Amino acid sequence: MTDRRDSRALSRRHFLKSGLLGGVAIAGAAASGRAAAAGEPLITDVQEWNQFPGEGVGTRPYGQPSQFEQHVVRKTVPWLTADAISSVSFTPLHELDGIITPSGLCFERHHGGIAEINSADHRLMINGLVEKQLVFTMADLKRFPRENHVYFLECAANSGMEWRGAQLNGVQFTHGMLHCLMYTGVRLKHLLNEAGLRTAGKWILAEGADASAMTRSIPIEKALDDCIVAFAMNGEALRPEQGYPLRLVVPGWEGNMWIKWLRRLEVGDQPWQQREETSKYTDLLPNGKARRFTFAMDVKSVITNPSPQSPITHGKGHTVITGLAWSGAGAISRVDISIDGGRNWKTARLDGPSFSKALHRFYHEFDWDGSELFLQSRAMDDQGFIQPTKDDLRSVRGANSIYHNNGIQTWHVGKDGVVENVEIS
Ligand code: MTE
Ligand code: CO
Repeated sequence: MTDRRDSRALSRRHFLKSGLLGGVAIAGAAASGRAAAAGEPLITDVQEWNQFPGEGVGTRPYGQPSQFEQHVVRKTVPWLTADAISSVSFTPLHELDGIITPSGLCFERHHGGIAEINSADHRLMINGLVEKQLVFTMADLKRFPRENHVYFLECAANSGMEWRGAQLNGVQFTHGMLHCLMYTGVRLKHLLNEAGLRTAGKWILAEGADASAMTRSIPIEKALDDCIVAFAMNGEALRPEQGYPLRLVVPGWEGNMWIKWLRRLEVGDQPWQQREETSKYTDLLPNGKARRFTFAMDVKSVITNPSPQSPITHGKGHTVITGLAWSGAGAISRVDISIDGGRNWKTARLDGPSFSKALHRFYHEFDWDGSELFLQSRAMDDQGFIQPTKDDLRSVRGANSIYHNNGIQTWHVGKDGVVENVEIS
């Protein structure tokens, strides 16, 4: 028995060695694997799951994550809102990789709770400045040409708590009003053309069927450009939390406009000045005036790991920094990383598909010498926009704002690997 273990350990050592000699160029990769010579019981001992058959096929008709991943969940900040009916839960960005948000982990923002609508009972109406008013069933909508697109959705209030300084200790809470999904649906322009737009029609009012009956005005140019009436996300029907059976997708624009449980589109000649575009979702400037209609989400990025909820636990040596970048204006062209609070920058490696108005994943591998770090990321998009520092942002917008904070985030990494939300000015 001992002999066999030894020979296994030896052959593994031999494999690692020949791998290195063979020129495997991933610096530190071998070093970060544990030396096998001492024996690894999880390799050498037969484990329980290796001895008995598991549950058979069909026992889990709708698959769930592993029981060992139960900590990967949306979270709320209870003191943030008075009631869960109009509140928000946050995406666990530090637990995710790639660019697609798993359907069950998308942050939720509801103003009147989750509407539970049977798709057979759902109707979409188009009225106002059109040649003929129309009412569609879900089956009617699925007879128009369908398209698939990957888009991010960011609430305009994402990072809103961070305007005046570092507040919430976790990327889930500072940046987690963000998700990125593959949508399937029909271009809004096909539905508007079917109804026949009158020439005076310059704006669309989108209305939700939930108890908040959320309404937003959208310029006709955007409605005829890339807006989608979506019935699927990540290949299956929308989740109730995301507006089942129908939601409006307004690529690159603030999440509030992406009306869920979409039931009505009215065509008009001017914006409606609803609550969500006057009292809310306007930006109070230093001169006391409120800026309206800041539709597009600005270029932004954040390091998701390391971050306060994801400290460095392996000590010094080979370390992977990763994060997300996005822009409402187009695709991300470059992300720079600083480990010294913005004094020096290195260009990160963008990986995975690059879609316009979608999340982009970046990585930066480096050798951590164990000293304290001030981690930052700075994104640039293909339209020439560059993510500003928080000071730059405040010099233009003042300190009264809540919405549209795309400032550079700083994480402090201590010598012990513990990470905290900080701000350097
Ligand atoms: N649509 C309806 N009908 N009701 C709502 O409360 N909330 C809006 C928007 N659409 C809302 C809605 C806001 S503020 C945001 S940020 C997004 O939906 C959130 O989408 P999500 O819940 O899929 O993350
Ligand atoms: Co919102």
